[in-house]
Amino acid sequence: MIRFTWVISLSFFFMVLSGCGHCKMFCHKNPKLDTPPKPQTAVVNPNGDSELALLMRKMTDALASKKLGLMKGEGTEITEDFTGIFTAKATSPHMKNKSFEGFAQALMYQLENYNAIKNIRAYNSIVQTCVACHQQSCPGPIDRINKLMIYL
Ligand code: HEC
Repeated sequence: MIRFTWVISLSFFFMVLSGCGHCKMFCHKNPKLDTPPKPQTAVVNPNGDSELALLMRKMTDALASKKLGLMKGEGTEITEDFTGIFTAKATSPHMKNKSFEGFAQALMYQLENYNAIKNIRAYNSIVQTCVACHQQSCPGPIDRINKLMIYL
């Protein structure tokens, strides 16, 4: 019994440490996530939007517009620069956990690869990389990100 309680509190400790509750709160209960993406020209909520969250929204908008193009048979380049992902401040520092940088690099690679090929397969690989990082550091928006996939 003591052992059991210990296991429970240990897993709770790791949950808190990995910040998944926190991230779900920030990423999932954000009412803006349920409205259709619109171009981000200004800071929408100066009190609550981290640099990283704003960059993520920009990426979401960029992909949503590429998706529309690709479905009409027009694969165009992603011209926005998302390298700020490495330095952008997150809502909470623990969101940028150990695996963050590796996934961010994978994302940069997939973006380059897409720009070289500009087809649906390369596009879907970008979206899969988004999801892979989110599984590790921020599960809240995964459903929304999955909607960016193009199923043929
Ligand atoms: C390297 C890890 C990583 C990758 C890759 C990544 N994300 Fe994120 N994403 C995060 C983290 C961490 C947050 C939480 C940011 C914060 O709250 O400061 C986030 C937040 C978000 C949000 C919520 C923003 C808000 O309004 O609060 C969306 C939507 C999102 N990401 C979409 C995407 C899309 C689309 C991609 C792929 C193009 C992507 N993400 C790739 C880690 C990642």
